[in-house]
Amino acid sequence: MKFFLDSAKADEIRYARDMWNIDGVTSNPRHVRNSGKPFLTAIREIAGLFEGTDKPISVEVNPHHTEAEAMVAEGLKLAAMSPNFVIKLPATETGFRALWTLRDKGIRVNLTLVFSAAQALQAARLGATFVSPFIGWKEANGEEVSPLVAEIVQIYRNYDYKTEIIVAAVRNARQIVESALAGAHIVTAGFEVYKDAFDHPYTAKGLKLFADNWDVTPYE
Ligand code: E4P
Repeated sequence: MKFFLDSAKADEIRYARDMWNIDGVTSNPRHVRNSGKPFLTAIREIAGLFEGTDKPISVEVNPHHTEAEAMVAEGLKLAAMSPNFVIKLPATETGFRALWTLRDKGIRVNLTLVFSAAQALQAARLGATFVSPFIGWKEANGEEVSPLVAEIVQIYRNYDYKTEIIVAAVRNARQIVESALAGAHIVTAGFEVYKDAFDHPYTAKGLKLFADNWDVTPYE
């Protein structure tokens, strides 16, 4: 399974790259805003952090676009900026139309804001490289999330679709594990989620216990 960082903050991404060997990055307009930098500056900086690697960086087109042509034009512009960039399009009828055109031009697309298996199926049919079901938002809405990921995994297996599932808006370590158990290819989560996920109070407690014993035991 791959771990992507969901962020546009260069310091978080650098840390995740250097400490956790993160497999990729996903961003969205809110993350870019939180970086405090202009859009193009922020994404150029992220691209620079992964130059020479094949790690994907998802960058989202202007969410105001209502025409597929505008999404395609911006997608082409962004994709030309870095070989790592994957174009994030919304799972709307227009987004799906733009996906198909970009795919035919060899541009990788991540269908975002996916909340149903039918949307994920359409994304795979039309050649998305990635699909991002937002489980945290669904859960916040009081909906069950495990069936969604399991259904998408099963559908992709049934038809041997190569689209990779990025389980997105992941809020805790348990959701990472559940995504892995369901057979998702990737999770994307925020910096603090990973910080917590790689830690356990018993690990610290055990280390202290072993250190105390080490201190009172001769080495030779
Ligand atoms: C995923 O690609 C999205 O950027 C992300 O998960 C959005 O949700 P969040 O910012 O609420 O976590």
